[in-house]
Amino acid sequence: MTAHARRIVRQKLSDEPNAGLAADVIAGLSAHPKQLPPKYFYDAAGSELFEQITQQPEYYPTRSELEILDAHAGDIAKLIPEGAALIEFGSGSTRKARLLLRELRTLGAYVPVDISGEYLHQETAALRQDFPQLNVVPVEADFTKPFSLPESIAALPRAGFFPGSTLGNFEPHEASAFLRHAGEMVGANGVLILGVDLVKAPELLHAAYNDAAGVTAQFNRNLLVRLNRELGADFDLSAFAHHAFYNAHKSRIEMHLVSARRQRVRIDGASFQFRAGETIHTECSYKYSVDSLRCLARGTGWDPLDVWTDAAGYFSVHALRRSDEV
Ligand code: SAH
Ligand code: AVI
Repeated sequence: MTAHARRIVRQKLSDEPNAGLAADVIAGLSAHPKQLPPKYFYDAAGSELFEQITQQPEYYPTRSELEILDAHAGDIAKLIPEGAALIEFGSGSTRKARLLLRELRTLGAYVPVDISGEYLHQETAALRQDFPQLNVVPVEADFTKPFSLPESIAALPRAGFFPGSTLGNFEPHEASAFLRHAGEMVGANGVLILGVDLVKAPELLHAAYNDAAGVTAQFNRNLLVRLNRELGADFDLSAFAHHAFYNAHKSRIEMHLVSARRQRVRIDGASFQFRAGETIHTECSYKYSVDSLRCLARGTGWDPLDVWTDAAGYFSVHALRRSDEV
């Protein structure tokens, strides 16, 4: 797209409710190579599809992390101060938080933060039914940007919970920025419970992002479904294929959508040209070692307190405390 066309589209879309999405999509599809931010996977359908991914036999991270949380919920609960607000970043189904909440009888508030608003409010309603005594304070926000916490929890001590290896969906510099920001949110002596997927045999990683039932492929393509619906784009879904592979050099899974042929896609007034085989890079999922994560944590203002892994050594859950010298 020419600079002139980009200006017109920006002007046209800037007043509309999806201005942020439109601007990011135009910037991402104008880049070389083309890319889209993974946070846009999570509309209501994307959140449901992610939950289906977690049920696939090949997708080990959820089972592995649940095994760890189930075994160590009591140890983790001891690290969270009485009366604290537990802030979960990217809470999704709240299935993992529930394991901790069972042990946290004196919690001041549970604060699920998620970008997927409809899904967040649906899961909050279910949680309130199952934990009627719990003060649940949902926050619909993009945690890659500054956001405010509700006044009602301002006076409470805070702890953070960031499971699922969602940290792995950040580029390394974004992961550092997030960890620093999380440190500011939990405050002095605050604790962060962080779930991170570990480097392992490429075959296992490849299988986890290429499930036989094709759910991950559907999750990836749902991004285009969303752009067609919300931005009036005209992506031909049958002309983009799911492609996920492990890039061992960068210790990350890469997910792409591959154009099956030479084609043009229109998004409102703009058009984007694709060569046959050209891809849109839709997600990175970085894998860490226990040591590389601890090193990242130390460099961003956290002291590692404890770490637990599952029996197979696939996944890690870290307890970090904000270091004094920050
Ligand atoms: N914590 C859950 C869900 C992980 S999926 C688990 O471990 O199973 C990632 C979650 O983070 C989704 O619910 C998604 O909507 C949310 N998310 C992704 N990017 C986000 C962002 N930038 N801001 C807020 N939430 C985000
Ligand atoms: C949420 N996030 C950590 C998942 C992951 O494994 O990177 C998202 C996902 N993408 C494909 N499958 C699952």
